[in-house]
Amino acid sequence: MKDVVGIGALNLDLLYEVQDLKVLREGGMPLRAGRETSLPQKEFTKFLTMVTQAGTLRWRSGGGSAANTVVAMARMGFKTGFVGSVGTDEEGAFILQEMEGVDLSHVKKGGKSGICLVVLDRQRDRALLVQPHANDSLRFEDIDLSHLSTTRYLHLSAFVGTGPLEVQRQLMMVLPPAIKVSMDPGELYARRGLKEVLPLLQRSSVLFATAHEILSLTGQDHYKDGCREILLLGPEVVVCKMGEQGAYLACKEGEMEFHPQGETEVVDNTGAGDVYNAGFLAGLLLGKSLNDSLAFAHRVAAKSIRGYGRQRYPDEEDLKAFQEA
Ligand SMILES: Nc1ncnc2c1ncn2[C@@H]1O[C@H](COP(=O)(O)OP(=O)(O)OP(=O)(O)O)[C@@H](O)[C@H]1O
Ligand SMILES: [Mg+2]
Repeated sequence: MKDVVGIGALNLDLLYEVQDLKVLREGGMPLRAGRETSLPQKEFTKFLTMVTQAGTLRWRSGGGSAANTVVAMARMGFKTGFVGSVGTDEEGAFILQEMEGVDLSHVKKGGKSGICLVVLDRQRDRALLVQPHANDSLRFEDIDLSHLSTTRYLHLSAFVGTGPLEVQRQLMMVLPPAIKVSMDPGELYARRGLKEVLPLLQRSSVLFATAHEILSLTGQDHYKDGCREILLLGPEVVVCKMGEQGAYLACKEGEMEFHPQGETEVVDNTGAGDVYNAGFLAGLLLGKSLNDSLAFAHRVAAKSIRGYGRQRYPDEEDLKAFQEA
């Protein structure tokens, strides 16, 4: 029996620090603070060279949104697994090695691994450029349903390509009803709009997204209206993440907000949202209230941004303190 199995992109995150994103943008690199973009291979290679020259490589880490979430859950002591695809290259071996504690027996291997360029400037709000490679090769036949039928939650995150999105859609049709689904569409799925991700949303009990993603997913002018629209489509809970301002939650019974006290020093905010998802899911798995789950999610996300990559992810001590609180 597992607590959470993730399905989403697996990437090698290369974290570069630059003085100012503007310099790279002027060179044609489509970087925006807090945002994510995918590019054709040729352009990606060109921009990789550009950032190598203009910036400093500060960190290498395993990445991918759902992967980050299950790794954070594994470090807290939950039983986790992952479904996805990595390359047979050195990068692929590194990505898997960075997922210690997660059952990786259902990760497909072939070709080159996905790469995500993470660029941080003095504002410390990551801009992402992603190249999917092996992630695009995931097929429905690669998924072992019997492996999935013993998890409490299946956590979905985005792929760049339409192929693996279709795999996730097909999976929603055949997934045993006892398995709860949580999802973080990220910018890549949010940009596709409601229609394309509807089969995923309809099957999800929890949806996590940033305010910006809620707006682009629903086309609403205000994130609260967007959250309410999503609630009508299936999810029981919509958690809207708002960086240093905290989070807003909408559910059938009403709404609530969490506003952090004090400031957090940001070293690297990449994956803050993914660790946040892990903290919130931990609360649900432990039967905690939505309010307590929001507070814990913030605590572990704020901790994670004080280090690079997965350096400051939550651990069993954090979970123990939460359990005893
Ligand atoms: N600067 C910050 N100070 C304090 N808490 C933060 C800060 N940035 C993020 N957090 C915490 O992390 C949560 C998620 O962050 P954010 O809203 O940036 O998600 P995200 O954009 O999905 O992140 P990512 O996609 O990089 O994983 C916030 O709701 C908040 O609790
Ligand atoms: Mg996110």
